Amino acid sequence: MIRPFQGMVPRLGSRVFVPDNALILGDVSIGDDASIWFNCVIRGDVNWIRIGARANIQDACCLHVSNTIWPLLIEEEVSVAHNVMLHGCTIRRGALIGMSTTIMDGAEIGEGCLVAAGSLVREGFQAPPHSLVAGWPAVVKGPLSDRQREIATSVWARYVRYKEAYFADGWPIAEAPNIDAPRPGFAEGHPYP
Ligand SMILES: CC(C)(COP(=O)(O)OP(=O)(O)OC[C@H]1O[C@@H](n2cnc3c(N)ncnc32)[C@H](O)[C@@H]1OP(=O)(O)O)[C@@H](O)C(=O)NCCC(=O)NCCS
Repeated sequence: MIRPFQGMVPRLGSRVFVPDNALILGDVSIGDDASIWFNCVIRGDVNWIRIGARANIQDACCLHVSNTIWPLLIEEEVSVAHNVMLHGCTIRRGALIGMSTTIMDGAEIGEGCLVAAGSLVREGFQAPPHSLVAGWPAVVKGPLSDRQREIATSVWARYVRYKEAYFADGWPIAEAPNIDAPRPGFAEGHPYP
């Protein structure tokens, strides 16, 4: 379900996959060839959320933001595995966020990082590019091994193929709702009352 909130309408690129039981609302934009999987909640009601092209947000993820302070930025070719909570953070290009991880406000995961499954990333945590981040709470373990780098870089392209397989199977390409005069989003200065 893709819904406006206070006149702000989610914006979608081309060939984006969103099944009916994912909920996307408010100031959310999603780039070309991205895929959002079953039972995700992406709630752009009190700040903005941007999801880059070819990113995948796997089943049962929860994406939210902090009012006026922390938007959520997910760059291109990021993979967010099943059951992840992302709140008001930044995930740079090509990173892989392992299953059941939580990342909190103000944290930044650098380009190409791998965050191990089940990690808790604290507020404001900064992960340098191409590093392994793991634990509860998470620490930087060091640069990725070749095998870890292979894991981090292989998932997004697979998910572009998976969503195309769903389209070929008859699942619809997602469309944003049409409303006459959408209000600008938070990034353009729309204040939350
Ligand atoms: C990180 C991962 C890739 C394992 O890689 P690996 O090369 O076998 O890692 P290692 O076992 O050598 O561990 C490296 C370090 O990270 C730690 N570590 C690895 N996985 C961890 C995890 N899930 N939680 C906490 N620590 C972890 C190890 O204890 C070790 O720490 P140390 O160096 O202080 O001893 C794997 O645990 C993982 O999380 N994969 C992501 C799975 C996923 O969600 N895939 C998406 C599905 S589409």
